[in-house]
Amino acid sequence: MSADNKIWIFDTTLRDGEQALRASLSQKQKIQLAHAIARLNVDVMEVGFPVSSPGDFDSVQRIAREVKGPVICGLARAVAGDIEACGAALKDAERKRIHTFIATSPLHLEYKLRKTLQQATEQAVAAIRQASRYTDDIEFSCEDAGRTPIDDLCYIIERAIAAGATTINIPDTVGYTIPTEFAAIIHALKNKVPNIDKARLSVHCHNDLGLAVANSISAVQAGARQIECTVNGIGERAGNCSLEEVAMIVKTRQDVFAPLYTNIKTTEIYRSSHLVSQICNMPIQPNKAVVGENAFAHSSGIHQDGVLKAQNTYEIMAPEQVGIRQNELNLTSRSGRHVIQHRLNDLGYSKDDYNLDELYQSFLALADQKGRVFDYDLEALVFFQNLQEQD
Ligand code: KIV
Ligand code: ZN
Repeated sequence: MSADNKIWIFDTTLRDGEQALRASLSQKQKIQLAHAIARLNVDVMEVGFPVSSPGDFDSVQRIAREVKGPVICGLARAVAGDIEACGAALKDAERKRIHTFIATSPLHLEYKLRKTLQQATEQAVAAIRQASRYTDDIEFSCEDAGRTPIDDLCYIIERAIAAGATTINIPDTVGYTIPTEFAAIIHALKNKVPNIDKARLSVHCHNDLGLAVANSISAVQAGARQIECTVNGIGERAGNCSLEEVAMIVKTRQDVFAPLYTNIKTTEIYRSSHLVSQICNMPIQPNKAVVGENAFAHSSGIHQDGVLKAQNTYEIMAPEQVGIRQNELNLTSRSGRHVIQHRLNDLGYSKDDYNLDELYQSFLALADQKGRVFDYDLEALVFFQNLQEQD
């Protein structure tokens, strides 16, 4: 498969997603989520904003040391202190990226930064040059690009690439654009910016009008090769582009997207989605595409009958593709310890990861309340058992 045809998946659940939670996550919670996100086989994971607090710095540093596989990325405004903190927090990562940004829309330049576009560009160029002392993988974002005139975007992006940015990210920060407009921005950048092919074009869409996924997909069709997204689409206000929807769109509609592909291990989607929901205390709406409780439930008799005769009559994806295991034994209050141990083993836990006797008692209490206990419930029970032991 050609590298040009790969759509890079940049997960920002632990940065843009976490930023929007009512209560911040503990370091332990972030580490657990970081491992789950790495299991999804994302290409890059943005795991925090190191300068924002000592706690954030420590979490980024720990993830950089512990989590292998994806490129580990930290966010930094285009200011010297941010870049320095980001470079230090990421020091021990096997593969690291510094993501720096500055606002470019007239509204943000005038009222937030009180700068001209030229001044913002000089600041961005200095930040990119500084970042290149720590890594050669540098992403630059034009905050509020969706409301920035195209010539202004071209101006700053040309200089950012010349300074060493290897990924250029176009955020629709306030979720304002519609798919045709957003695709036109990508087309124009590809046609107008000299040396644009030296950098990977990326998009980062917010969901204020419910268009984050549609805008991201249109951008890919126009030539973008990285999508920034979060598990369950969690994020500021109405959220970010949802990782699981993008991955399943590209996989399910290969008739449209081939030869483009993502490297997401889709069978990890269901598990990571429920873990994010539990840990972030953000319930998943039942009719949420791909991961909602009703996403594969067929209520009408005609549909049930059709699916029994041939799965694809009413199902465009198989539940197994997103990691929903069919025909598995239901875990209920009648299930024994052995079954629980067996299931945890399948989920990758060893006997030393939990105390079976205590876990079984918590399992029975939960099964009495819920009826059926799911894999993600079991994982949450193990997680909370370990948390209590360490307190
Ligand atoms: O929404 C946004 O503009 C951002 C940037 C920092 C990429 O999150
Ligand atoms: Zn954002």
